[in-house]
Amino acid sequence: MRPAPIAVALDAPDLETAAHWASLVTPHVSTVKIGLELYLRYGPEVIASIRGASGVQVFLDLKLHDIPNTVEGAARAVARLRPAILTVHAGGGPAMISAAVEALPATQIAAVTVLTSLSEADLERVGIAGPSEDAVRRMSAMAVGAGAQALVCSPREVATVRAEVGPDITLITPGIRPAGAESQDQARIATPEQALADGADLLVIGRPITGAADPGAAAAGIAAALRRTLADSDRAV
Ligand code: C5P
Repeated sequence: MRPAPIAVALDAPDLETAAHWASLVTPHVSTVKIGLELYLRYGPEVIASIRGASGVQVFLDLKLHDIPNTVEGAARAVARLRPAILTVHAGGGPAMISAAVEALPATQIAAVTVLTSLSEADLERVGIAGPSEDAVRRMSAMAVGAGAQALVCSPREVATVRAEVGPDITLITPGIRPAGAESQDQARIATPEQALADGADLLVIGRPITGAADPGAAAAGIAAALRRTLADSDRAV
């Protein structure tokens, strides 16, 4: 059976826990996400430990944001790790995004639009006036124009972004909570089925899987629900 379009966020305090979670979920999901905390604590070796022999896709969530030359160098520095996806901040601008795309031709560069942790008041304070949805739409169009093949946005914005960028761009959404799950600190949430129906391609899910008593069973359950949604809508994964 094909693994479901889920990126499990391995937000673990230590490498052993992250590798254990990865081994439990990789039969069921396409991707695991390694973020700044694990990467900065353990370095590039973390990728080999997590990937193991499984062949699971690695989403390296480093959210790069610097001048184009520096981001190009950073992207080249992770090329040997063969991440399937690498994030950069769309706010770094088109030249920076293009530099990452050119430096890593075998990796999908995913541009993070507006961080979901920013309120509209915060956005105004950093100089982005108007509704956040407009900013997300503008940044999405800019990032895709610069060559980004993927975008990260909240489930609340995914339908708008899909309408803006068309069918060929991979849309990645965090803030996913199965019906009945705790929302924890996520404000803009959607169920996995709703996010897919709205046009998401890859769902980032952390604590609903890694915080479960049996992360493998939790991943399998969500994967099965997604397969039913995809079968109903005839969408290929
Ligand atoms: O545990 P949970 O499902 O909330 O994990 C979501 C993951 O997605 C975390 O790794 C978090 O850092 C990441 N993320 C997010 N919101 C964003 C961007 C990334 O929650 N806007």
